[in-house]
Amino acid sequence: MLKVTNIRNDFPILKREVNGKPLVYLDNAATSQTPQQVIDVITDYYHNYNANIHRGVHALSQEATDKYEEARAIIQRHINAAKPHEVIFTSGTTHSINLVANGFSSLIKKEDEILVSAMEHHSNIVPWQMLCERTGATLKVIPMNQEGELVMKTYHELLSPKTKLVFCNHVSNALGTVNPIEEIIGAAHKVGAAVLIDGAQAAPHIIADVQALDVDFYTISAHKVCGPTGAGMLYGKEEWLKRLPPYQGGGEMIAEVTFEKTTYADLPHKFEAGTPNICGGIAFGAALDYMNHIGFDAIAAYEQELLTYATEQLLSIEGLKIYGTAKEKTSVISFNVEQIHPYDIGTILDKLGIAVRTGHHCAQPIMDFYKIPGTVRASFCFYNTKEEVDTLVAGVKRAKSMLL
Ligand code: ALA
Repeated sequence: MLKVTNIRNDFPILKREVNGKPLVYLDNAATSQTPQQVIDVITDYYHNYNANIHRGVHALSQEATDKYEEARAIIQRHINAAKPHEVIFTSGTTHSINLVANGFSSLIKKEDEILVSAMEHHSNIVPWQMLCERTGATLKVIPMNQEGELVMKTYHELLSPKTKLVFCNHVSNALGTVNPIEEIIGAAHKVGAAVLIDGAQAAPHIIADVQALDVDFYTISAHKVCGPTGAGMLYGKEEWLKRLPPYQGGGEMIAEVTFEKTTYADLPHKFEAGTPNICGGIAFGAALDYMNHIGFDAIAAYEQELLTYATEQLLSIEGLKIYGTAKEKTSVISFNVEQIHPYDIGTILDKLGIAVRTGHHCAQPIMDFYKIPGTVRASFCFYNTKEEVDTLVAGVKRAKSMLL
């Protein structure tokens, strides 16, 4: 059982007011809030050991290096990667995906096919379109149904020896659907394709065991799991990371440089050019520690309770439609009310201190599929409460009465 009152005390921001009302923060799929325990780690870094890593023999540099590598080990254990150097620090999921897409430029040929799901965030569509433009390969789409679930029969039909890569999110940011990634990975491997799973929206709710999944690449952004923005990770199987060329050239990623030739550093440094977000990486590790201390089983159970309650309460509003009714869902509810534009509802909710996201959620193809301009999206975290759900429902009712 989660002790939500105690947990809320860890998050200073939850005590603030917005527009004279207590903040009800329901935009967790955009970014989660940061507990004091993680804020303390960030402060400690800048107070006590701010230094560049892997470069100095002085004490501060060594302390910072040790903490950064400890954070890598925390992430490695969290996702059960076989080796620490299979965890590459990045600035977030978008960076991670671009790193892989760029690397595949030299491995993909004109006749190859790449499969992407219909419910991707733009960050898991555009880099692959750019890869197809560079290589001449064909991008094919795994369709979805009205419930917001992938049509797996068509996925299996799309797979062929031409398929070289498959991309899919673990959880849809716009709909909350949990995709059947075990089946997706297993089937892709049967035809020899590699799989990248965008775990940005799954990470706050589900632990991905990358070895059990046998996934080739998996991505997480720190700011979705109570960590800071500008930090994230790419997991890649060692064999793939060795095959892919570096993404950026610069300091730290080299073994030796002359004007005639440069040789590259071993993993993970080959993909970590330049001074990284050192504090962000360390805080990412602290954020995972914080969430693991609460426990992902307890988090998932509590969030499912919130999801069920919020779904029932919202559906009691006449004219409200929920988009994304998959059997397996995380605590994300995308909805519209009759003919009201989502921005109008979002604006009134904001006046009431309620933070939700409105618009296409960087997933325009999903909105095109439903033929809507966007949705209002309420996304719940383990620090939200049923009372906050009630405030949201009252706010939507008020918006409806004002706008219709
Ligand atoms: N990808 C984030 C969201 O879904 C920003 O809101």
